[in-house]
Amino acid sequence: MTTSASLAVHLREVDRPALAAHFLALGGDDRRLRFGSPISDEAVQAYVERIDFRGDGIFAVHDDGTQIVAAVHVAFTGESAELGLSVLPGHRGLGLGAALFTRAVTHLRNRGAREVFVHCLAENGAMMHLARKHRMGIVHGGSEADARLAVDPPDAFTMYDEWTRDFLGASVQSFARYAAAWSQSPLRYSPSGK
Ligand SMILES: CC(C)(COP(=O)(O)OP(=O)(O)OC[C@H]1O[C@@H](n2cnc3c(N)ncnc32)[C@H](O)[C@@H]1OP(=O)(O)O)[C@@H](O)C(=O)NCCC(=O)NCCS
Repeated sequence: MTTSASLAVHLREVDRPALAAHFLALGGDDRRLRFGSPISDEAVQAYVERIDFRGDGIFAVHDDGTQIVAAVHVAFTGESAELGLSVLPGHRGLGLGAALFTRAVTHLRNRGAREVFVHCLAENGAMMHLARKHRMGIVHGGSEADARLAVDPPDAFTMYDEWTRDFLGASVQSFARYAAAWSQSPLRYSPSGK
């Protein structure tokens, strides 16, 4: 499994079905934590259909094949951007959430965002922990919480960092797709002839 979020892939339009499959793989409680309320399969599909892959930033970590095991989505609202994170249960606690958060913030820096915020349920221990760890300011409002972080201006390093990560992530994804296709190919050599 590709567990390094340095291999996070910048998702494009072609990845829409894989992103939908990722969200649909989240159980009921995880969907409630991710989207703020219980959400049906149809509502998940509708949410993914509305995502603007050109304007928003969506990054994902895949398993050895083409399944997305972790994703971050940042959507601009003026000079701010809202961030949403999700990691499939079997892949949590490995640092994917934190690494995708950092990747998304670099993306936002390079596009001139001034602030990133996460709107989540106050009961969400893992997300609140991640928010504090990234020095976000947290405002509680009943059962919900808003975590905010000022985004620094870009510099040469953030530009170079994003370029190299995009290149590396895209290269690894291309290789994984090629390997998956080849393993299914009738042209593949098999000593047993099967
Ligand atoms: C929140 C979420 C994205 C975290 O993903 P992850 O890959 O496990 O995150 P990381 O491994 O980078 O870090 C998790 C941290 O939270 C800590 N943590 C986990 N559960 C926790 C809890 N209940 N209370 C406090 N801290 C908790 C872990 O110990 C870890 O901290 P550490 O790195 O300092 O040891 C994941 O749990 C998830 O997808 N949840 C469902 C959707 C969701 O809640 N999304 C966020 C709202 S947008």
